[in-house]
Amino acid sequence: MSLQASPPAEDLPFHMRGNYAPVREEVTAFELPVTGALPPELRGLYVRNGPNPRGVTPHWFLGHGMLHGVRLEGGRAAWYRNRWVQTRELLEEDALRVREDGSVDLAIGLANTNVIGHAGRILALVETSFPTCMTPELETLGTYEFSGRLNTPMTAHPKICPQTGELHFFGYHFAPPFLTYHRVDAAGNLVQSEEIPVRGATMIHDFAITARHVVFMDLPVVFSPRLLETGRFPFEWSDDYGARLGVMPRGGRGSDVCWFEIEPCYVFHPLNAFDEPGAGSRGRVVLDVARYPELWRDDPEVFTPATLHRFRLDLDTGTVSEQGLDDHPIEFPRVDDRLTGLPHRFGYAVSNTSHVGERPTRALQYDLVTGRTRAHDFGPGRAPGELVFVPAGHGAAEDEGWLVGYVHDAGRDASDLVVLDAARFDGPPVATVHLPQRVPFGFHGNWIADPILPGSGSRF
Ligand SMILES: [Fe+2]
Repeated sequence: MSLQASPPAEDLPFHMRGNYAPVREEVTAFELPVTGALPPELRGLYVRNGPNPRGVTPHWFLGHGMLHGVRLEGGRAAWYRNRWVQTRELLEEDALRVREDGSVDLAIGLANTNVIGHAGRILALVETSFPTCMTPELETLGTYEFSGRLNTPMTAHPKICPQTGELHFFGYHFAPPFLTYHRVDAAGNLVQSEEIPVRGATMIHDFAITARHVVFMDLPVVFSPRLLETGRFPFEWSDDYGARLGVMPRGGRGSDVCWFEIEPCYVFHPLNAFDEPGAGSRGRVVLDVARYPELWRDDPEVFTPATLHRFRLDLDTGTVSEQGLDDHPIEFPRVDDRLTGLPHRFGYAVSNTSHVGERPTRALQYDLVTGRTRAHDFGPGRAPGELVFVPAGHGAAEDEGWLVGYVHDAGRDASDLVVLDAARFDGPPVATVHLPQRVPFGFHGNWIADPILPGSGSRF
């Protein structure tokens, strides 16, 4: 595959320049060189998704999805592969997502945002469409619709409950029903779909679960037909829409959602949420997020900084309190996935100098018990992407494990897979796996531990 001709670099938007720019080749390499020592407990696949457009795109979010994966086993980096997700949008020049009658073909999408493992399937995700099922070697099997039961798009940020193994997610749409919640059991069966009442079409990128609740974010970045008509990314800030957080009991109905009005803001990504006791029987929900005071008022191609922020939603009194937890500009917040929906002490994020679109500089570890934030500086010219926590084993403590993610070295224009010790976060990496090509800055990845099953999916 090759790129189309591109304009001069200085005329390109940020997402087409430097290490945001796409790579041209699909590469396979075995037995990768390692500096340091890979922990032998790391047996599985680290895989990350991101946009890798074949031509110049008008927005960072609009490139074709490409997976970059590294297989670790026995203290070795067994292989690296990068593969475009073979979507119809990639393969068919005239793939028509919105049909002539106005309906949307959910089997067409970029599959560029996240990649997860659940119930033996590896799913590449984008929030506009059905998931795409992938093999453990990153080959495309096809779109996956939960045996025909899924009838909405699927967010790129589903949540796996560590206690039940259920997969919770939602789909949002620019026409009614605007928001639908779905629950998949641990075996992979879609067992519940609920329409969630919201006031209009907004960009709902992510959500949260707790052990007892599901938390929705109804925030004022709204769908804009005006921007769509001009070929731009079709969402913008609204001063009129308002901002709400909705809490639904797990297993509840859309009509059971309790809404909390909050100060207008935007959130792409929560860090986590959990239940805590309150004055009455219903208790409180704590929601930690990367919060933008405002987003895309004038320009959907400009990203201002977000910071770590806590909402406390009191289900007994119907009141909400807000608290800034830290001042560093961040994105890509993550916790130990074993604590999804449960109280967490540690969190992780990538810190930007000021705006998304510049090179990230450091990664952060928040200790929300002591209030201490530790930074890992990857060295001059070395810029991290999202880091994923991998526990050292079953029953390991919350900081007993490793942070894994890709780091770009501007001096060599090359990338490494870096492994940090969570308990010595600001210390030198435990291991650095040297990759055969650079990995562009992308979005989200996950550690998929062995055993990895071969998966399934329907070819288009
Ligand atoms: Fe995201």
